[in-house]
Amino acid sequence: MNETFAELNPPPRILMGPGPVGVDPRVLRAMSMPVLGQFDPAFTAYMDETMELLRRLYKTGNRCSLLIDGSARAGIEAILVSVIAPGDKVLVPVFGRFGHLLAEISARCGAEVVTIAREWGSVFTPEEIEAAIRRHRPRLLAIVHGDTSTTMAQPLADIGPICRAHDVVVYADTTATLGGSEVAIDAWQIDATSAGLQKCLSGPPGSSPITFNERVAAIVTARKHVEAGLRAADTVDGSGARVASNYFDLAMVMDYWSESRLNHHTEATSMLYAAREAVRIVLAEGLDACFARHRLASDALTAGLAAMGLRLFGDQRHKMPNVTGVLVPPGIAGEAVRATMLDDFGIEIGTSFGPLHGRVWRIGTMGYVCRRENVLHCLAALEAALRRAGFRAPAGAGVDAALAVYHGESAPLR
Ligand SMILES: Cc1ncc(COP(=O)(O)O)c(C=O)c1O
Repeated sequence: MNETFAELNPPPRILMGPGPVGVDPRVLRAMSMPVLGQFDPAFTAYMDETMELLRRLYKTGNRCSLLIDGSARAGIEAILVSVIAPGDKVLVPVFGRFGHLLAEISARCGAEVVTIAREWGSVFTPEEIEAAIRRHRPRLLAIVHGDTSTTMAQPLADIGPICRAHDVVVYADTTATLGGSEVAIDAWQIDATSAGLQKCLSGPPGSSPITFNERVAAIVTARKHVEAGLRAADTVDGSGARVASNYFDLAMVMDYWSESRLNHHTEATSMLYAAREAVRIVLAEGLDACFARHRLASDALTAGLAAMGLRLFGDQRHKMPNVTGVLVPPGIAGEAVRATMLDDFGIEIGTSFGPLHGRVWRIGTMGYVCRRENVLHCLAALEAALRRAGFRAPAGAGVDAALAVYHGESAPLR
């Protein structure tokens, strides 16, 4: 067959789902830079700069702040498979899909997994988590910060100190919150965390920024087993159980990202360029300014949706500013509305899964896409799409209400 297919030419879209979101053109430009050898001093200097940028983003002094090559769950797996030894007890508070994911990955790592559950749309109190820790005495608590499946953010500031007090290691998944709202790893006493580029960091999926402290580094180092072909005369293995994954073995990954530059994997060069630029952009804007931009978009969007007669999903006190859950009005075909948004307006909004399937749309206002014009386009398109599906919102009310928030003429609903 001689067919070569057409040159790639993706349709223009405004990505306003739960991620991925539109990539900042500066990140795309960085990705087109020439590939360097992974031990070229110019490249290792970029690695060191990326580590420093990640420390500032995560608000941590952690030496081990680096990238795992792969989507957000690559970072999750790297941390969990490197920390959890078979038989360890892991407690996972589940308030959405990604809590289930943490429980599943922990079980694959051989953990004895205990879950506590909250109805989707709510979050846990610190007291509930402390009571579960007292009851189950886990070695590790694995918890999601912002769960895009429900649009809820679990407050973490009290969770780290509770875990410290009970000598429990705590991992938090900050995939959906990093760059969009406060994430303060040292102040919150979180031992390890991971994220992805494709949400508030405005990069493509495929690189996972992680950070972990010396407590976790010690656990990982105790399990160090350097692969046979890389061993040197002075290589010393740890006495702990070998990590079940080579790719995600943080002991070897740590050595690759340190002075010793262990030749573990070939770093995903272009993804490192993307991550470095993505974080540089967020820090140049300023974390507080970036969080305020996400908060304002959420206020404008939610005011617009309310003015259209739509209802929001979940406990609004804990809503993430970068994703908004909207209840599909009774009798309206949610998928038809999404199709009109995509086909006629080029705007992607998200559907839902699990108990929310068919009941909730999820609208993302994240990173590069989190801009006034996109919020207004989205509301105008949604009004038209709803009308075609049989739901009549007061004409123009959504856009007017959002504009009023953006112009400081009306107070946010929260
Ligand atoms: C909170 C959270 N964790 C993990 C993931 C998984 O990310 P990925 O699909 O990049 O592996 C997502 C993706 O939406 C997420 O929102």
